[in-house]
Formats: sequence, C-alpha cells, structure tokens
Amino acid sequence: MRQSEDQATKADLLLATHGMSKQYPGVLALDNVDFDLMTGEVHVLFGENGAGKSTLISILAGANHPSAGQILLRGKPVTFSSVHEARAHGISAVFQEFSLIPQMTVEENLFLGAEPRRGGFVDKAAIRREARKILDELGFNLQPHQRIDHLTRAEQQMVEIAKAFRSDLSVLILDEPTASLTNHETDHLFELIGELTARGVGIIYITHRMAEIRRIGDRITVLRDGRYIDTVDAQTASEDDLVGLMTGRVVGGIFPDLDLPDPGETVLDVDNVSVADGSVTDATLHVKRGEIIGMAGLVGSGKSELMQACFGTLPISSGAVRFKNADVTGHKPRRNIRAGFLYLPADRRSEGLMMMRSIRENVALASLDIAPFSNGVFLNAGGERQAVTALAERLNLSPPRIERAVDHFSGGNQQKAMLARALTRHYDLIVFDEPTVGVDVGTRASIYRFIVELARAGTAIVLISSDLPEILHLTTRAYVFYRGRIQAEVAGEQLTEQNVLSHFFEREAA
Ligand SMILES: Nc1ncnc2c1ncn2[C@@H]1O[C@H](COP(=O)(O)OP(=O)(O)OP(=O)(O)O)[C@@H](O)[C@H]1O
Ligand SMILES: [Mg+2]
Repeated sequence: MRQSEDQATKADLLLATHGMSKQYPGVLALDNVDFDLMTGEVHVLFGENGAGKSTLISILAGANHPSAGQILLRGKPVTFSSVHEARAHGISAVFQEFSLIPQMTVEENLFLGAEPRRGGFVDKAAIRREARKILDELGFNLQPHQRIDHLTRAEQQMVEIAKAFRSDLSVLILDEPTASLTNHETDHLFELIGELTARGVGIIYITHRMAEIRRIGDRITVLRDGRYIDTVDAQTASEDDLVGLMTGRVVGGIFPDLDLPDPGETVLDVDNVSVADGSVTDATLHVKRGEIIGMAGLVGSGKSELMQACFGTLPISSGAVRFKNADVTGHKPRRNIRAGFLYLPADRRSEGLMMMRSIRENVALASLDIAPFSNGVFLNAGGERQAVTALAERLNLSPPRIERAVDHFSGGNQQKAMLARALTRHYDLIVFDEPTVGVDVGTRASIYRFIVELARAGTAIVLISSDLPEILHLTTRAYVFYRGRIQAEVAGEQLTEQNVLSHFFEREAA
C-alpha cells in the first residue's frame, strides 16, 4: 500500500479504485489499477498518449464499464451504469471530447435530461434562471440562449464545465480542460478549482502540461501502458522524474536545434486580407521557403482564421492571397492541396478526421492521386499500407494498428494520425494549427523534430500556436495577432517572451 493511503484517515478518502481493468478488443487499456482521491485535493493523472488516463476517468464517471475492479465512494462499493448515475452520486466529468448537442442552446444543453418541470411541462423560465445562475457563479461570459454551434471551442468547453455544476459536486474530473482555453480563461478555471477544493471537492485532473501540474496539483499518479506506476508529490517531483516515470526512459531536450539554412523565395504572400466573418482585418504577411513562421496571439485573436481563409475554408471579403506567385484567393482546399499547400486544423474531431474510418484511410486521404497510394489511375493497397505503417512508426502511434477506426484511439494518437497526413506527399507550405495540443511530452519532441526537418528540406512552415514556448523555440519570425489584426512582426533577437507578450494584450491605442 502506498504511503499516502497509510496516512489518510477514512474521512479524507473520497474515491478509490481497486484492481481496475479495462479490456478492449486487442488492447488492455487498464491493467489492475489502484487509485485514490482525497477530499479537497487536486490529483493529477499523468502519462503518455494511450496510457489509459481517459479510460480510467470515463469509468469513474459512469461513461464506461470496467472489465474488472471496484470503485469505492467514501469506502462503499458503487457501480455506475450511466453518467447520470455517477452524477447523482456527485461525480461529474468534463471529457476530452465534448458531448454537447450543437443545434441546441447553452441552457438546453445544461439541463439536458434533467429539465426542471412544472405541472408536467418543462419549465423554461426556471431553466433560463438556473442557467444564468450557474454561468454567473462560474463567471463565464455566455448567454443561456446562445446556440452551441455558434460558440468557439473555448466557450463550448465552458458549457461542459458548467454542466458539471448542475448538481451537488464531490468529485470533479477534468480531462485536459485547458487545451483550448485562453490564459485568462485558464486563470479563471484555476480560481474555480481553488474554491472547490476549499469546499472539500476532490479533483481529478488530466494534463500534459508541466506548468499546470505545479500550479494546482497536490499529487500525481503516473500511468504507463495501462498500469499504475507511481504516485508522487506534485510540488517536489522534478520534470525529469515525471518524464522518466511516464516513459520508463530518459528523454532529452524537447526543442530541437533551429539552425535553418537561409530562407528561399516567397511561397505565401498575403496582401491586406480581411475575412468575411470579421475575424481578421487587413492582414499582410509573407512566408518563405525553409522558414518556420509563428502566428502568436490569444485564442480568438484571428491567427487561425487568417490561415483558414488563405487555405479556402473561410471566405475572404477583401485582399489577395498569392501562393507560389499565383493568385489563389478564394481557391478551394482541394485545389490548394493539389498545388502543394496544406492546412492541418486544430480541432481534429470536427474538421480533420473521419472518426469511424481507419487510421490508414485517414492518413492516405490527401494523397490518393499519387504514389505509393496509387499509380494515378488505380489505388495501390499494398503501397498504401506500407507507407502508412512507416509513418505510424515514425510518430510512435500507439497501438500501431493502422486498420483500427480513429475513434478507438486516444486523443493524442488521433492528433498523430492527422500529422501523418502531412507526410504523405510533398508540400511547399504546411500550416500547423496548434499541432501539440493534447500530445504527450515525448511525442511533442518528435513532432518538433519533424517540423524542423520539413523546413530544412525547403518546405515553408506556418506554426499557429497559443503556446508561447513553442513560438519562441521553434520559429524564426512571428506575427502577433490581437483582436483580428496583426499587431507586430518580431524576428531573430527580438523574438523574446516579453516582446511577444506585450503585443498579446496591446490595446487599440498602440
Ligand atoms: N473505444 C475504444 N475501443 C478500443 N480501444 C480503445 C477505445 N478507447 C481507448 N482505447 C485504447 O485504450 C488505450 C488507452 O486510451 P486512453 O484514451 O485511455 O488514453 P489516454 O491516456 O487518455 O491518452 P491521451 O493522452 O492520448 O488522451 C489506448 O491504447 C486506446 O487506443
Ligand atoms: Mg485521453
């Protein structure tokens, strides 16, 4: 038994699992895992992509059934046949993949399946009142009547969190909750977590970000290949310790050397572009062969929208986009891909991947017209399989089964599948939109290496990132966005944390 459990008095112990196992066809996702949560603590779950974190919490939250093992809530064995049942016991989870209904409003989603009623009818006034109350309590700037599909991903995340607050909470589970939140929203979430733990709520928190662990974590439990490895103190465990526990080996520096050759000719030329939905105004920039160009700024600052507009997934209202000296303004994505311009979206579920199709099909998607995927006329199944298998190895896909549906892979491994798509043909320009969100530290290092290799081989790279270290360590030049405008261009020596950050928040007066 672990030390922490010896020390814990019965009153402190809120939730525990004993011998928790989950067998999927061909994969033992959890193997006899013991885990415990005290009242008022933030217990971080840490581990590589596919280690079993989401599986464990989905069982605790009633969304998934274990193959073996027990859940104890305040010492009593419990079983949950649904999320509703777990919630009735005070256990609520915000999952990696959202469960909101896009065509419905915030308030409808908040009370879905648990609508307050009056005389047999849904009490709309009560729903509005209650929804407003929850949103206000949480300090979320959302309106109860807004439709989910009109919200940004960060706002949808807030709705998911608000949902957890519908009933009395004793355990709150958060699976990579800050992946799409701005710094400000993250601060807010952490304040909220502080208030909850002060009230005795236990929090299970999944993250790949070290800084977050330090900021809010009490204990960290590390999983590897579905097995329990160790539980350590979040304040004293070093980053090296954690990475060692997580991978079972020593991992060197995350960022590769950036000695890129001098840039070549201009590949992308954006001239005074405004996006029709108003998200970007008068943006002008250029990207050369062999450069890695950063797009920095808060979530919603327009950095992602501008590149989507260049690629053809958002309409442009004025200005021009030139790619390899040809006007491509308004061209469709398919045409841009053929010409050598690829954009890899951040939201893999809604924009990037066909979830029910295999890894092989998803990876091959953009290259069905070329070798080794086809000879231009007929598809080449063998060539395709070989090429995708090699890519899966290179990105350390886990498990390395390319015929499995994407839906059956862990979040980080889905991200890898999308990146693999970029490797199936030669591109002159690749735009990576938040490529490492939800990716474990080891894989992150290989993604960075891969980006630098592409640039060395002459590809022009655009890296859209809300993660400042990524911009600072991986790009040679960066554009900083604020409220839909490019506030600054910083390069070389000027590319420092302070310089970039000062433009993140700059007001119109600047
Ligand atoms: N529905 C499913 N069917 C089959 N296998 C699954 C399913 N869901 C998850 N798995 C497998 O179970 C293992 C654990 O996945 P899980 O999602 O728990 O990982 P994780 O630790 O949350 O990873 P990440 O950091 O990438 O989110 C993986 O090997 C995954 O492929
Ligand atoms: Mg997960």
